[in-house]
Order: sequence, then C-alpha cells, then structure tokens
Amino acid sequence: MMKIKMEDSLSYRMELREFGKTGEKVSRIGVGTYYDVGWMFLARFGKRSDPEGKVRAIRTAVENGVTLIDTAEVYGSEDLVARAIEGFDRSSLFIATKVWITHMSYDSAIKACRRSLKRLNMKYIDLYQIHFPSPVGNMEGTLRAMEKLVDDGLVRYIGVSNFNLRQLKDALGLMKKYDIVSNQIHYSLKHRIPERDIIPFAEKNGMAILSWYPLEHGDLVRDDAYPSDLLTDLRKRYPGIRASQIALSYLMEANSNVFPIPRASNPDHVIENIESVKYTLSEDEINRLKQIFST
Ligand SMILES: NC(=O)c1ccc[n+]([C@@H]2O[C@H](COP(=O)([O-])OP(=O)(O)OC[C@H]3O[C@@H](n4cnc5c(N)ncnc54)[C@H](OP(=O)(O)O)[C@@H]3O)[C@@H](O)[C@H]2O)c1
Repeated sequence: MMKIKMEDSLSYRMELREFGKTGEKVSRIGVGTYYDVGWMFLARFGKRSDPEGKVRAIRTAVENGVTLIDTAEVYGSEDLVARAIEGFDRSSLFIATKVWITHMSYDSAIKACRRSLKRLNMKYIDLYQIHFPSPVGNMEGTLRAMEKLVDDGLVRYIGVSNFNLRQLKDALGLMKKYDIVSNQIHYSLKHRIPERDIIPFAEKNGMAILSWYPLEHGDLVRDDAYPSDLLTDLRKRYPGIRASQIALSYLMEANSNVFPIPRASNPDHVIENIESVKYTLSEDEINRLKQIFST
C-alpha cells in the first residue's frame, strides 16, 4: 500500500489543515475534477476525451502530497478518481463527492450515494455534499438521507455547495444528528464576495470552505491579471513565484479554513498549483492584493 508523500521527498512541506471541526486533517490544497460542460455532457454517453491523461493528473496530485480530491456524480469523473488513487492508502485520503439536484428526495439521495460509491469503488465517502440548494425546497428529505448515510457508515461527513448564508443557516437548523462541516463555493481573488459573509460565518462556526474556480477558470494564471509592480515586488521576495501560485496562496494565507480545489488536467499545472504551498504571503502582501482585487 503506497503512502501519500509528505515532507520526506518533496521540495515543500505539504501542511495538513484541520477540516473545519471534524478533527480530520487534510492537505491545505486539494484537486478538482470538473472538466467542462461539454466534457461532462459527453461523459454521459461514454465519450470522454483523454480520460487517461486526467487519471494521470489526479494521480500526480496524490503523489505530491494532496489528500483532498473533489468530484461529483454529474462530473463523469468519479471512476477516474477511483483509478487515480489505486494503490494508495485509502484512509489517508479525503474523498469528496456530491449529490445532484435531481436526486434530492430521501430515496433518490440514498440511491445516488450508492451509485457514487460504486463508481468510486469505495466503501465510504469522506465528504458527501449537496451540489446546489434544492430548487424545489425539499432540503429536509436530502438532509435526513445524508444523516442516514452517516449512520450506515457510507458517508463520514456532510457538506453543502453553493449555499448562500441564509440557505446555510436554514440547512443547519434542519440537522438533527450531525453537523454540516463545509460549504463549497465560488471563491477566488477575482470573486471575493464570500469574504463579506459566508467565510467569516464559516470560520466562526468551525466550518471548512472549499473554493471552486480558485484560478477563475484560468484567468488568474496569467501575469497580465496582476499589476506589474506587484509582480516585480513579489518576485523579489519569492523568486519564481507564478501568477497561479499568487492566486492560490492568497486563498490559503488570507483564511485559515479555505481549501482551494484547482482543477488541472495537465500534470505540470498540478505540480505548479501544489507548489503554491511554498509561499507564505505576508499580511501587507495580502492587504495589497485585497486593495487590487476589491470585493
Ligand atoms: N461546486 C460547484 O458547483 C463547482 C463548480 C465549478 C467547479 N467546481 C470544482 O472546482 C474545481 C475547480 O474549478 P475549475 O476547474 O472550473 O476552475 P479553476 O481550477 O479555477 O481553473 C481550471 C483551469 O485553469 C487551468 N489551470 C489550472 N492550473 C493551471 C496552471 N498552474 N497554469 C496554467 N493553467 C492552469 C486548467 O487547465 P488544464 O486543465 O489544462 O490544466 C483549467 O483550464 C472543479 O474541478 C470542481 O471540482 C465546483
């Protein structure tokens, strides 16, 4: 059984952070496995471009210290995650997937989870998330199903995704036995709105935030997304820092409870993203970024 590499053989130290108040420690950066709408649509018909490359990219993340992997039943990538982690110690990984809005009733959510487990080739899911708030308001049934899945040992923790503050508070009020441990939201330097309410609320209540679009779907990987004087100053202090690494480092350094989940299908991108953990931005640098990318 292969172990996840930590500091022994890496050029950086992959810090593990507490995932909300679960008591679990996971890599402070994760990896996402949503490719795009077209890819997801074709995946339904068994037509996926370069699945092998995607397996390689996810595996590269795990080989380089990432323990947090995010997928969803609609992404068409759960089985790729299963293949990417073959041979690794399952207990050292934190696998997150999501139930889609068409499976929100109690029975549908239970069945959807069982199907995800089959595709993931796993006995349990670490984090089972409600992908979007229910458009038809049957949240209670979904949450009861999530609690039953925890009781049955098929799910370890319950999370939500794309919930605004009101929806999050409503959902928390409906929980009977377990907590909602995380919310997965759109959060990047270019989209800092969650810093106004969701992130402070999560921090105060011991909840983790998974940030999707942390690179703004590629916009923040280019130098021209940042003022040149900022880049010059940062590169004096951190020689070689890449634009993508500034974006990811900001999310991790400005908050204690945020786990970015950049997706990359290119293993070189995966490594570049992971290596952002090498950079510890100062408070002044974080404030400067806040001034440039205002909410
Ligand atoms: N909960 C939700 O509703 C929701 C919605 C959207 C996304 N998500 C999750 O969040 C994850 C991330 O979102 P995302 O994939 O759309 O956006 P993203 O991570 O912000 O950006 C991904 C794009 O950036 C490129 N890229 C990544 N690292 C790079 C690097 N170091 N240098 C240059 N280019 C780089 C990727 O190219 P390559 O692929 O070619 O490497 C890809 O085109 C998803 O995979 C998914 O797990 C969740």
